[in-house]
Amino acid sequence: MEGADLLAVVNCGQLVTIAGPKRPRIRAEMNELSIVEGGAMLMRGGVIEAVGTQKEIDSLLFDEIPTVDAGGGVVLPGFVDAHTHAVFAGTRVDEYERRARGETYQEIAAAGGGIRSTVEKTRAAAEDDLIEASRRYANWFTRCGTTTVEAKSGYGLTTEDELKMLRVIGRLGFIPTFLGAHEIPDEYRENPDAYVDLVINEMLPAVVEQNLAEYCDVFCERNVFTIEQSRAILTRANELGLGLRLHADQLSASGGAELAAELHTATADHLEHADARAIDALARAGVQPVLLPASVYCLGLNRFAPARQMIEAGLAVVLATDFNPGSSPTPSMPFVLSLACTHMRMTPAEAITAATINAAYSLGRGDKIGSLEQGKRADFVIYDCEDFRELPYFAGVELASSVYIGGDAAYARVEGGGDESMWPLRQGSTSGAWFRVS
Ligand code: NIG
Ligand code: FE
Repeated sequence: MEGADLLAVVNCGQLVTIAGPKRPRIRAEMNELSIVEGGAMLMRGGVIEAVGTQKEIDSLLFDEIPTVDAGGGVVLPGFVDAHTHAVFAGTRVDEYERRARGETYQEIAAAGGGIRSTVEKTRAAAEDDLIEASRRYANWFTRCGTTTVEAKSGYGLTTEDELKMLRVIGRLGFIPTFLGAHEIPDEYRENPDAYVDLVINEMLPAVVEQNLAEYCDVFCERNVFTIEQSRAILTRANELGLGLRLHADQLSASGGAELAAELHTATADHLEHADARAIDALARAGVQPVLLPASVYCLGLNRFAPARQMIEAGLAVVLATDFNPGSSPTPSMPFVLSLACTHMRMTPAEAITAATINAAYSLGRGDKIGSLEQGKRADFVIYDCEDFRELPYFAGVELASSVYIGGDAAYARVEGGGDESMWPLRQGSTSGAWFRVS
């Protein structure tokens, strides 16, 4: 085989392909990673052309072509992070310390902090300043092995500021979700229904008209948006052609999962308080649960979502970071895998399936990303380890040594450099790079 744009990856130890049925994986399928021991892969124009053993791939190659040597390491598809709030101004390190001293997340929110304090800073930030702040986080995603990121608005809460956030999300190459109903802004505290009207009658039409979002999400929670308000917003979003996601049953059981089932949303996210009936409703409606154990950990809580019951009920479980400045300031999927295995008793293979192919399906991209199969985008990561289970096992260690997006090098760790040259970020090198700023 010859031709331009060819690239081979050779000398993989475990090539974890996650090849399988062309749909989200459920039950025992979540444990099947389709690993090729001693594998190799051939790509053309950023798309995977062949996957197999080293011998099989060698037999296809007649000419010398550019080659990436995986050095016997583990190779995985890039992670797909299906739930983040990765665009925001400032941090909330002050609240982090207040929580360390004993205040709770809800107490801080009720006192005017929490989401509303990030809203104040995000409203004040210029679009380009938001780009700069979030580019730093985009680089973190990459170096943790994540190659696709969904990101939500929700720190603007005025039409202009929500549109600004969505433009930033789009420019960074994240998959955009409109979350105007993330919190009730200060100026509508006395009249939340008027804010819901604004979301429905002004924000949603503008977002759709300017083609700035694929999905609409709502924070359905006690003291935030009620079931009725959430239903009204999501119903309108559906009429306007957006896909649906829902923050459900995070801090209390509020009927969020049942609403997600009723509306057949693509996902119901969080679900720490979901019970057997909620799981049953999600299963019957085919809604994918997006579990976010890092937010449980970072809030110092210990009630994790019932992942085992969900897998047993046949739900196509997804894992994501929930990266945000308040409840989950981590962009690391390996860390999320570790929490899932340690605290939710998911196996390492189930966790990887949840963080790749199932996540891809939850974003309507199961045919394009999430596994290493012919015809998919060449998004892959080489790890410094021999066994894929080391990813959750060595908690807190960044094992990714290089990351490729659409066949382009997006990140490579330099060994033997001084501290300063440890993490050179080669973002947006050539075509198809997701985190390039336009
Ligand atoms: O998913 N639950 C609501 N939204 C985020 C928290 C956002 C924030 O604290 O800024 C979450 O946990
Ligand atoms: Fe969230």
